[in-house]
Amino acid sequence: MDHFVPPFPERPTRRLPLPELLRRARRSFLEVWQDGHFEQDVIPTKVLAQRLLICNSPDSVQQAFIDQHEALERKSPQMRHALEPLLGDGLFISDGLVWKERRRVVTPVTHQSRLHLLAPVMTAIAAERHAAWAALPTGTTLDVLAAMGHLTAEVICGALFGRRIGAAGAATVVDAFRRYQARVGNIDLPSLAGLPDWFPRLRRGVSPEVRRIHAVVDQLVAGALAGGESSLIGAMAAAALPGSGQRMDANAFRNEAATLFMAGHETTANLLAWACYLLSQAPAAEERLAAEARSVLGGRAAGWDDLARLPFTRAVVDETLRLYPPVPLLARQAQAPVTIAGHAVARGTLVVVVPWLLHRHRRLWDRPDHFIPERFLPGAAERPRHAYVPFSLGPRVCTGMGFGLAEAVIVLATLLQDFRLRLAPEARVFPICRLTLRPGESLPMVLERRG
Ligand code: HEM
Repeated sequence: MDHFVPPFPERPTRRLPLPELLRRARRSFLEVWQDGHFEQDVIPTKVLAQRLLICNSPDSVQQAFIDQHEALERKSPQMRHALEPLLGDGLFISDGLVWKERRRVVTPVTHQSRLHLLAPVMTAIAAERHAAWAALPTGTTLDVLAAMGHLTAEVICGALFGRRIGAAGAATVVDAFRRYQARVGNIDLPSLAGLPDWFPRLRRGVSPEVRRIHAVVDQLVAGALAGGESSLIGAMAAAALPGSGQRMDANAFRNEAATLFMAGHETTANLLAWACYLLSQAPAAEERLAAEARSVLGGRAAGWDDLARLPFTRAVVDETLRLYPPVPLLARQAQAPVTIAGHAVARGTLVVVVPWLLHRHRRLWDRPDHFIPERFLPGAAERPRHAYVPFSLGPRVCTGMGFGLAEAVIVLATLLQDFRLRLAPEARVFPICRLTLRPGESLPMVLERRG
């Protein structure tokens, strides 16, 4: 098998001076890690007034996100302030009673027991994209990052809202969120400087993008609600909150719908784009995936019942999530003093799990920077629990994990059994992390039909 090392930022061998650290963090969170961090278990540090504890071993990760969940439930000020204009108090960034109540209403929407009912939407949209690609002349250059964004937006709309978003709506959301991420700022200077939460944050140029996304979401919500409880979103609107027994008010509902819509398509789109890139550089893996898909599907689109028979496709998805986790940094702000891996953590400290570091830890993984899908095949060597956390872990684990995994396998197997994507000569692929980890602003690839 042709194992290769896909790109990652240079790793400084010494501690960076503060201005350089901030400059790099502003550009991309992936650029701040020193070489030594990839073999440390716990990294206590301080940036300006902000203390941080980076948990980088399976044990410390478990202590932080499972054992000490209650003290560490709250997201970092950076994440809350970055997403608040878009998601309000939506599940991704809420905490306390709001989070507890809403989590119980949102979790069932994409619960494992329901996925077989949602998979036909994934199959239909994948088949539609297959037909669209089949109609293109071979040699057409596509922006695979945008294409996957459109596809996953269509899937989440079909599954949750029971409607089409359409090419124009999908293009608006994908473009607006790309601009939003570029403008929202990677670091929250006020909290690093020790200023409180209420201190006003500057978010230049963000409002127009929020308005564009909200306009699309509001239209989807209105359409779904007009259909009563027939859509999953309609059923969520009618569900009683566990504490009060009341329904969510209109604002809360819109925030949760926006959260599901954004969390439900952006991450999966990045995963699919990265998988296409990785396969384009690893011909043997690409051939093996195509052969598996062809033998199971014989040209038709993949469905729920096929998932168990596509282990190599699933291994490619898992390995892509290891190398390029769409959410590569999970940060919490301690609300009470705790001890983690022998370190006393004061209230206000940021406790951070960094899948980017943990997934490439030199003592946890063999050839950690190589693309080796076989490591995830059934029967491969066991790895420590909690060394692999692309969906987070503990009570705040991603509610859409099964949905995203099923969608990724269905889409890749359906498309790549008949098409090959080659990296376009002008493509410059490099991981960049703002809110999510992407292969750049676009991913130009050339479409070829398989013989
Ligand atoms: C490959 C696809 C996906 C990846 C890698 C992913 C990753 C994650 C991660 C890492 C978190 C936790 C963030 C943190 O702890 O700070 C999260 C939370 C969440 N995800 Fe996903 N996600 C994916 C797909 C989805 C889908 C398809 C949905 C919905 C249909 C979804 C809905 C959510 C929600 C609602 C939360 C907030 C949960 C909470 O805080 O209680 N995600 N996701």
